[in-house]
Amino acid sequence: MDGYRPDTYGDRFADVYDDWYQDVSDVDATVARIVALATPRGGRVVELGAGSGRLAVPLAGHGLEVWAVDASAAMLARLRAKPGGARVRAVVDDMAALAAPDLPTGGVGVVLCAFNTLFNLTDTDAQRRCLARVAELLAPEGVVVVEAFVPPPGGERDAAVSAVEPRHIGLDEVVLTVSRLDPASRTIVGQHVQITEAGVRLRPWVLHYAAPDELDAMAAEAGLHLVERHGGWHREAFTPASDTHVSVYAGGRSGGRTA
Ligand SMILES: C[S@@+](CC[C@H](N)C(=O)[O-])C[C@H]1O[C@@H](n2cnc3c(N)ncnc32)[C@H](O)[C@@H]1O
Repeated sequence: MDGYRPDTYGDRFADVYDDWYQDVSDVDATVARIVALATPRGGRVVELGAGSGRLAVPLAGHGLEVWAVDASAAMLARLRAKPGGARVRAVVDDMAALAAPDLPTGGVGVVLCAFNTLFNLTDTDAQRRCLARVAELLAPEGVVVVEAFVPPPGGERDAAVSAVEPRHIGLDEVVLTVSRLDPASRTIVGQHVQITEAGVRLRPWVLHYAAPDELDAMAAEAGLHLVERHGGWHREAFTPASDTHVSVYAGGRSGGRTA
């Protein structure tokens, strides 16, 4: 999508993100799992693409030291404005770079990349760079936790699939999801088209997806290895029918131990 930049998604969704996505995943279960992983690892958490703080704010409320990285200043402004938001260290940065001086230089117990956010990096090279930088931030026993959808089956030769679906139909508002999934580039481009009497708002998004085994290979290039994969935050079994996964990667000297 021409003109799409790291801050485009956040800047275009910040005003509706909490209304639309607060319950998109189980916040309590996510927070409980990250607290369990982070506490014995020193309690430092970096969340990548933390957005409006849906997860980062309650994580900090549990006593963890939390850095929330996001490319969108508008998203992080929402985070700061929330009760408890001041406990989170909000950092404007591209998660493919993680170069901001106010990030920790190491000693991080958990790097969290929730709700498909790794796929917000729009090409494989950016995802690789992100994981390589993450590996540098981790404490020796630190882990990276990635929550992502399992891509639909289909090979590079399959035709692109376009769709227009109603996301919301209300008395004074319609939201349409317009999307095109291209198996050749492993990319989904979309727009949430919000139509009201006042006019039309366009909320664009791009996802570059990878299958779990492809993520494992990318992580391995960064010196990270899979220590745990579940089908959700309740540690459900990951099976061929799972449509999402929560994967935990370790690097350094952790030796694959998870709490
Ligand atoms: C789907 S939202 C997820 C927000 C939060 N993790 C949650 O679970 O509610 C993705 C977030 O990633 C941010 N983002 C997208 N591309 C980014 C990039 N290259 N670097 C940093 N943040 C990015 C967006 O601004 C947005 O806030």
